[in-house]
Amino acid sequence: MTYTLPGSPVLLRHFTLDDCTVLEANPATMDSDRFSFFGLPVPGRMRRRVESGEAHPKPGEVHGLLVVEAEGVCIGFVSWHPQNYGPINAPTANFGIGLIPSARGKGYGTEAQKVLVDYLFQTTTVNRVEASTDVENIAEQRSLEKAGLLREGVVRGAHYREGRYNDMALYALTRPDYEQARAASSATKITTGFSASR
Ligand SMILES: CC(C)(COP(=O)(O)OP(=O)(O)OC[C@H]1O[C@@H](n2cnc3c(N)ncnc32)[C@H](O)[C@@H]1OP(=O)(O)O)[C@@H](O)C(=O)NCCC(=O)NCCS
Repeated sequence: MTYTLPGSPVLLRHFTLDDCTVLEANPATMDSDRFSFFGLPVPGRMRRRVESGEAHPKPGEVHGLLVVEAEGVCIGFVSWHPQNYGPINAPTANFGIGLIPSARGKGYGTEAQKVLVDYLFQTTTVNRVEASTDVENIAEQRSLEKAGLLREGVVRGAHYREGRYNDMALYALTRPDYEQARAASSATKITTGFSASR
């Protein structure tokens, strides 16, 4: 399975064991991944998930994990999980991203998050896609804005990292926002930015 948008330099696809090798060679550390380091990874965990098929999301599922590929190689991953607001099973999709250090600062993170937002609205029934990041993570905040998500506010003391609770900036896009952007894109361009159909 692969998913991209016309003209995008990145695509999202299922993990392979070769991708595990790339990520194992670039483990998150406190220095390289200040905002997403939560301890040493469990050795071989990702390989076991790939081998069992557990790592491969099925369209429609509100949890999953995909490789971000650019220039023909794995440069990181995106993941998402359900976030329920209230007792009814109608979750928001909350996503995250991690690129290996050599792939950062080249626009790939922004592109990958644009493609993921499209994938989630096209393949699930969620009404809302959201992401939050540490208020000090300027690269991710800027990247989310460039990917079209709207800043909704600050969730105080929500994130335990570096030995203390930290504030997070919350970003989201609702399905009406997405449909509106899609319609505007179709109206102003001869070729639209979207290839997938619902
Ligand atoms: C956060 C991340 C996904 C952003 O992706 P990226 O490809 O590096 O970012 P882009 O190249 O798309 O740049 C997006 C914006 O962030 C800015 N930016 C990039 N790196 C930056 C940095 N270290 N400090 C400040 N701004 C930065 C860029 O200048 C750009 O903004 P601009 O167009 O206004 O100049 C990526 O850096 C990453 O994986 N970081 C480590 C893991 C992480 O923090 N994940 C998110 C945790 S919630």
